[in-house]
Amino acid sequence: MKNTVLTFSVFALMVLGCKDATQVETVNSESNESVFTVAEIEDGTNSNLVVDLADTGIKIQPTMYGIFYEDINFAADGGLYAELIKNRSFEFPLPKMGWEEPHSVRYSLNEGSGFSKITNYVDPQGGNRRYSHTVVHNDETYELFNNGFRGIGVKKDAQYNLSLLLANADGIEQLNVALVDTLGTVLASTEIFPDAKDWKTYEAVFVSNKTEAKARLKITFKGNGTIDMDMISLFPKDTWKGRKNGLRKDLVELLDGLNPGFLRFPGGCIVEGRTLAQRYQWQNTVGPIIERELLINRWNDEFAHKPAPDYFQSFGLGFFEYFLLSEDLGALPVPILGCGMACQFNTGELVPLENLDPYVQEALDLIEFANGDVNTPWGKVRKDMGHPEPFNLKYLGIGNEQWGPEYFQRYEIFAEIIGEKYPEIILVSTPGPFSDGDMFEFGWEQMKKLNVKLADEHYYKSPQWFLDNADRYDSYDRNGPKVFAGEYAAHTPGVEDGPLENNWMAALSEAAFMTGLERNADVVLMTSYAPLMAHAGGWQWAPDLIWFDNLQSYGTTNYQVQKLFANNSGTDLLSITQDGKPLIGEQALYASAVKDTNLNELILKVVNTSNVSRNIKVKIQGGKVQTEGVAVSMAMEDLYAINSFEEPTKVSPQESEIKLDGELLEAEISGQSITIYKIKM
Ligand code: AHR
Repeated sequence: MKNTVLTFSVFALMVLGCKDATQVETVNSESNESVFTVAEIEDGTNSNLVVDLADTGIKIQPTMYGIFYEDINFAADGGLYAELIKNRSFEFPLPKMGWEEPHSVRYSLNEGSGFSKITNYVDPQGGNRRYSHTVVHNDETYELFNNGFRGIGVKKDAQYNLSLLLANADGIEQLNVALVDTLGTVLASTEIFPDAKDWKTYEAVFVSNKTEAKARLKITFKGNGTIDMDMISLFPKDTWKGRKNGLRKDLVELLDGLNPGFLRFPGGCIVEGRTLAQRYQWQNTVGPIIERELLINRWNDEFAHKPAPDYFQSFGLGFFEYFLLSEDLGALPVPILGCGMACQFNTGELVPLENLDPYVQEALDLIEFANGDVNTPWGKVRKDMGHPEPFNLKYLGIGNEQWGPEYFQRYEIFAEIIGEKYPEIILVSTPGPFSDGDMFEFGWEQMKKLNVKLADEHYYKSPQWFLDNADRYDSYDRNGPKVFAGEYAAHTPGVEDGPLENNWMAALSEAAFMTGLERNADVVLMTSYAPLMAHAGGWQWAPDLIWFDNLQSYGTTNYQVQKLFANNSGTDLLSITQDGKPLIGEQALYASAVKDTNLNELILKVVNTSNVSRNIKVKIQGGKVQTEGVAVSMAMEDLYAINSFEEPTKVSPQESEIKLDGELLEAEISGQSITIYKIKM
C-alpha cells in the first residue's frame, strides 16, 4: 500500500523554554509548519542495515539517561513528599489556607462554637513562626478541617501516621481526630488526651475503612477552653523504603523503574525564583523539618490561566532528601544552584558582581554539605541528619536557563572560586533556554572560552523538530564542552494541554531523537526528559513524564520510552548504518547500536516513524553473536494514543523472541514503532 504524506500542520506550538502565555505563539497555519510528517513509504519496504561489533572507542556514560526533578505541578508537597496535610504548621502567608472552621464565631468572647487564632511564637525557631491558639466555646459544634492537597487520598485498610504538636490545654480534655469522606462519614478516628503544658508530640495510627481520594481531616474537642496546636501531620505508613514521614512509594517506584544514572534537582526555573529573594536556597531546606522556612512556589501564580494560590514549598523534601533519593536510586546527584540572577523570563533581577560572594558561598557550602568531613560545619549538619558518609557529589549546575553576558560574568566567578577549592567538581553551565539563535550561539562561544565541561541544553519543541534534529549532535565540536540535554520534551500542537500531550506521536519522535543522542555519546553525556511529574488535579505544565493523583500514578508513553532506553543503555557505542550512513530518518528509520560489556550483549534500537511495517535485515559484522535473542517493542497505530489512570500501560513494551540466521537478523517491524533487539555476544 502506498501512503500519502500526512502532515499535522495546523497551529504548531512554539514553546520557548519557560512556557508562559507570553512565550507561547501559535504559528499561522499558512506557514504550514509540519508537526509530524508521516513519510511516504511502501508497505513492507526492505531496509538493509549493518552493525559493526568493532569498538568505536566511545563509552556510553552511566549518566546517559537520568531524571530531571522539579517541584512543579505539585511534584513535591502534594506529590512525592507524602505529607497529606496542607499547611500543617500554619506558615502559609494566609495562615489558614487549607483549613476550615465551618461553624466558627469570632465576634464573641464566649459564645458560638469557637475559633482558631493564628498566633506568632515569641521565640520562633527557624521557619516555624506560628501556631494555632484554638478557643473552644462549644465543644459540640466547633470543628476544624484540613482539606489536604485537593483532598486527602487514603486507601482501604492502609495505615496512616497521625501526629500533632500540642501545648497548654486548658479546659480541653480530649481531641477527636478523624478522617472523613466527602459526605462526612468517618473513615478512621482516634482520641488524643493532651496531658502536658509544654509542647509535646502526640501520635496515633489511622486505618482507613474505605478508599477515598478526597477525604478531609476533622478535629473536634471535648471540653470548652483553649489549646495550642502546631505541626498537624498525616503520612501513609507505607512509604518508599518504609521511612517514617518519607516519600510516596508508588512515585519513587516509578522513578526507580527509570534506572536513572543521575538525579538533577531541584529544577528548573524554581532554582532561580521569580525574584532573587524567592530563589531556591538549599541551606534553608536542611536540618529539622519543623524549622525549614516555607517559600512560595514560583509556579504558584506563574500562569494566569493555571493559578495555584495554594502552592508553597514546605521543604519537607529538601536537599538532604534529594541526596538520599539519589543514593537510593543509584543515581549521581546533580544539584543546580542559582547564580545571582532571578528567572530572566520574569524579573531577571541581578545581584551586582561585587555582591556575588554569598551566592558563591552557597555553592561552596553545598559541596561541603555533600562531601565534606563530618568535622566541617556543613559536613556535621549532614552527619546530624543521619548521613555521616559523603553523598559523592561530582556535578554542580550554576544557573538554570540563564543567558547573555551577565550570566557568563557570574558563571566565571563561580568557576574560578569553586575550581580553586574543589577542582574535582564538574560544573554545568548553559547556553540558555534556546536551542538555536544568536543568544544560543553567544552562549556556546562563551562556554568554549571559559572551558566549560558540561553545557545544559533545553528544548521543548514539536515532534517534527525532534525528528528533524536526530542529527543535531553529529556536527558538534568534539573538543568543546560536552552536552547535558537537561530538559526536553516533544509538545504536540493542536492537542488539549494536559495528559493528552503525552501521546505516542511525542514519545515516538523523542525515541527517534534519542537514537541521535546515543549515536553521539562522545558529546552527549547526560540527558533527561522534563518535567518529571504532574498532579492531575493541580498541574501547571504539560506534557510530563509521570501523572498522579491522590491515589494513583502512571508512566506516560514518554516514560515508557525513557525507561526502555535507560534500561538498555549499554556501555559502548557501536556503529549501525544503512548504505554506509547513520540512520537519521532516511526512509523514516532511526537507529543506534551499543554493546553492554557487563551483560555481554548487543543492543540495537530501531525506530520506524512511518505508518507501515518494514522488513529489516541487519548484518552483524566484526564478531559473533548468538542465534537467539529478544525483541522488546512498542507500536501504536494511533499517534494520539496515551496511557491514563484507566489504562496505565496501554502503551508499553511487549517482549518476543528472535532468531538469527548466523550473522543476519531478519525482522519485520511495525509502523510507528520502537524496537530494541538484545542479542548475547
Ligand atoms: O520544565 C519546566 C520548565 O521549563 C523548567 O522549570 C525550566 O527550566 C524550563 O523553562
